[in-house]
Amino acid sequence: MNKTVLTGIKPTGVAHIGNYFGAIRPAIELANATEGPSYLFLADYHSLTTVKDGASLCEYVKDVACTWLACGLDVKRSIFYRQSDVPGIFELAIILANYTAKGLLNRAHAYKSIVQDAIDRGVDPDHNVNVGLFYYPVLQAADILAFDVDLVPVGQDQKQHIEICADIAKSFNAIHGNVLRVPDVIIKKDVATLPGLDGRKMSKSYGNQIPLFCSESELKKYIKKIVTDSSLPTDPKSTDCLIFQIYKLFATESEVETMANRFKQGIGWGTVKEELFLVANRMISPMREKYEYYINNFEEVEKVLIEGAKKARQVSQKTLERVRKVIGAST
Ligand code: ADP
Ligand code: TRP
Repeated sequence: MNKTVLTGIKPTGVAHIGNYFGAIRPAIELANATEGPSYLFLADYHSLTTVKDGASLCEYVKDVACTWLACGLDVKRSIFYRQSDVPGIFELAIILANYTAKGLLNRAHAYKSIVQDAIDRGVDPDHNVNVGLFYYPVLQAADILAFDVDLVPVGQDQKQHIEICADIAKSFNAIHGNVLRVPDVIIKKDVATLPGLDGRKMSKSYGNQIPLFCSESELKKYIKKIVTDSSLPTDPKSTDCLIFQIYKLFATESEVETMANRFKQGIGWGTVKEELFLVANRMISPMREKYEYYINNFEEVEKVLIEGAKKARQVSQKTLERVRKVIGAST
């Protein structure tokens, strides 16, 4: 494969296993598999819709950067940077806004759900909506279009944003010719949306997550909280449940097969949780060690981000030159 791959992660908190299986791991796999360039970045300006405290944003950026490196991001193959270090993205975003139908943004899920929530509560629909939230998909489109991207690996909830990006690129190209590359979305189907401890989508915003890098004892506690039914240990169990879904992500094929048989025969939820802890901790431990190393040696990470930003600025500058030329701006 010789495609350009890009994905971003919004630093709004500590990464959870849904982020890992739904976004981080597939993105790293795809980035490692392509012969083409790959861009993985921290979308820190996207976090501003919700994070207004500078110290917290710095912490989240640090945490997410260390997480990606600990999960195996190869900085020799991928360009890794902070969005806020690449001003060309923001210039492109303000240009693209003029090629974006307002109706397209009105239909964006994140915006729509906040408006609907306000309507349901009988308050002004604009209540709690800042323009940054409304404009969010345009900024995301600029993140992508600045780098002539073919493939954007994301979780299911981001699909609409990539479609909006493709629409914006097509609107621009319809007027100016083939200037922007139209990207495709890639979704890892088996973990398109991993449910959280309460069965809703695992999300930092619901507080129902299993963090990727917590201590062993915390991991055990989180696993204990996974909701199960009140069946007896001797009762056969359906594998169509959250705990089995999570187990499948961490275990080998033969372990999954064995566990499925034990479900059929009857197994106590306590035992399932212990087994889940063992396989989860087996996969997470080596990454956790690396994560701790990077957190304690963040100057190394900072260097990588600065180098990455330099390259990202060069590439985005080229796109901007093309764009500025066709729109008639100074070149
Ligand atoms: P959160 O909802 O926890 O705030 P983000 O919005 O920061 O997560 O998502 C970061 C990436 O992780 C996105 O590509 C998103 O699609 C993916 N992702 C988030 N939650 C899940 C989940 N529960 N299952 C699979 N992928 C997820
Ligand atoms: N909006 C994405 C999220 O919430 C993060 C993101 C920002 C992104 N820019 C991107 C993802 C560009 C893919 C491509 O997870």
